[in-house]
Amino acid sequence: MLSSHTQLLKQLHEQSNAQVMDRARAQFAGSNEAFLEVAEQYGTLAPRLRGRFLQSHGFSTEDFESSQGTPLSLAVSAEMGQFLRNVVLSARPTRILELGSSCGVSTLYFAEAIRLLDEGIVVATELDRGKCAQLRSNLKAAKLERYVELREGDVFETVQELDGTFDLIFIDVWASAYLPLFKQVERLLIPGSVVIADNMYTAETEVRPFKEYLDKNTRYSSTTLDFESGVEFAVVVS
Ligand SMILES: C[S@@+](CC[C@H](N)C(=O)[O-])C[C@H]1O[C@@H](n2cnc3c(N)ncnc32)[C@H](O)[C@@H]1O
Repeated sequence: MLSSHTQLLKQLHEQSNAQVMDRARAQFAGSNEAFLEVAEQYGTLAPRLRGRFLQSHGFSTEDFESSQGTPLSLAVSAEMGQFLRNVVLSARPTRILELGSSCGVSTLYFAEAIRLLDEGIVVATELDRGKCAQLRSNLKAAKLERYVELREGDVFETVQELDGTFDLIFIDVWASAYLPLFKQVERLLIPGSVVIADNMYTAETEVRPFKEYLDKNTRYSSTTLDFESGVEFAVVVS
């Protein structure tokens, strides 16, 4: 039998996937049959080709609302969540900063790993009030509230108020904000800190300035993992 935590995540992943499929269907001009074919093709693509594929078929990942005007969850996939959980279990960060928490799917993976290790905290950030309410309710359902400190509001303002250092920063806001936001959190990093950023391939054009900044800066050792939406994995060297 699935644990209630696993069941909750399963349900949240299903909701998010259904929203993304609905949005893609609304953006696609062809028949249902053609849409299903394109969706199947997408699933078989190497991750590094996904951004260009989406662009060439006219799908926009910058459309953040459903056709009914409700904000999309845009949660990390279950595979990405498991990856984040494993990073926490191996690196044992005691302070995690999550930039872009939405309804808390990635937050749940972090918080559950912290509960297992019995030490640490996630500072979660989210602008949308409705998503924050859902995040709180998801944390409550999973009994993980004590491992998460949610900062509601514009993340650019939130990070200005942060002090101390973070062992792990996860970047999952809108892609055009990656570089300006990263520049604001660099002061919170120490040698050995890990920075993970999602959507490096699916939002390849928008995140390019961030990627180039990391690659040119000897303070960081960074690589893009050809996994899921394209995952930047950077370590602070000095
Ligand atoms: C891709 S979603 C995050 C998904 C989340 N990590 C998960 O796995 O469920 C990006 C989130 O960043 C939030 N966001 C975008 N710009 C923001 C800002 N300036 N301040 C705070 N949150 C912001 C959006 O509201 C959205 O919920």
